[in-house]
Amino acid sequence: MQRIFSGIQPSGIPTLGNYLGAIRNWVKLQDDHECLWCVVDLHAITVFQNPAELTQQSREMAAVLLACGVDPVKHTLFLQSNVRAHAQLAWIFNCVARLGWLNRMTQFKDKAGKDREAASVGLYAYPNLMAADIHAYHATRVPVGDDQRQHLELANDIAQKFNHDYGVEFFKNIEPVIMGPAARVMSLRDGTKKMSKSDPSDQSRINMNDDADAIALKIRRAKTDPEPLPSEAAGLAERPEARNLVGIYAALTDTDHAGVLAEHGGKGFGPFKQALADLVVEKLSPIAAETRRLLADPAGVDAILRDGAQRASAIADPIVAEAERLVGFLRA
Ligand code: AMP
Ligand code: TRP
Repeated sequence: MQRIFSGIQPSGIPTLGNYLGAIRNWVKLQDDHECLWCVVDLHAITVFQNPAELTQQSREMAAVLLACGVDPVKHTLFLQSNVRAHAQLAWIFNCVARLGWLNRMTQFKDKAGKDREAASVGLYAYPNLMAADIHAYHATRVPVGDDQRQHLELANDIAQKFNHDYGVEFFKNIEPVIMGPAARVMSLRDGTKKMSKSDPSDQSRINMNDDADAIALKIRRAKTDPEPLPSEAAGLAERPEARNLVGIYAALTDTDHAGVLAEHGGKGFGPFKQALADLVVEKLSPIAAETRRLLADPAGVDAILRDGAQRASAIADPIVAEAERLVGFLRA
């Protein structure tokens, strides 16, 4: 059975984009893989996080994952900071990866913005930590949204250089798993930007804990153009906002753009948005209710995470110890 690793940052409330682009696919992969699901708090602090909010959001993220169907018994759910191996291997990878490689990372350029000098060193080295997350478990398959593809290529470059420099075949090649018609859900305010839990505008996203009224209002106000929906998928090409709403509908009904347009093509956005809002509410409200139930017992969520961290450490610690031996560290 192949081993899967994936991570999600507790830098806000998870969004519909996280659900359709990541979490929902994680749940499906559990049937035929051994899975490690990690709430990556070390990654989150590459941008300053209010400490009390980070604590709360980490627990909430775990609760949402559980509510969506992540199985903490057959698989492993844990917090990145609770397993020391991630930071230990990341340091070694900081010394394997080249500045030139990191300089090509488009996400750093986006996140650092104009004032690159003011970005944290952690934000720059973030892809090395991500490589360590995966290689610490010898995981070979990594489900992510397609914005993470470049980081996975870097993780493979790091593994190859380590193996080459130390003359071993130790770290494995990893394969991205990019799934579904909604691999990239866009902002409701701007169809060219991805929906993000850290966007300053709450109107730009649907949060996994939004109630029915909030969902309906955000979808009603979502940016669109004045034309009715096209009847063919090709008609969405130059219409990013229309394409995004159709993509969300398609993902939630397990079909594609053409399938949605066969039913809704020619309609105006008024009735289509109504149908979409009803659908999103129908799919998300049971998850929100289960999340609230879990969070009513925070110690229960923490116990699940503690057990996960123990089991994750049992896999990662020997792998990282072997990497340290290969580097030549003396275990005195
Ligand atoms: P992040 O929210 O950046 O921690 O991302 C966690 C996971 O959700 C990653 O696999 C991302 O690629 C995925 N993801 C985040 N935002 C979106 C989005 N708008 N559409 C699709 N996938 C997303
Ligand atoms: N960088 C990923 C994101 O922002 C999260 C992440 C951290 C991750 N470590 C990972 C994803 C390891 C997959 C594998 O979405």
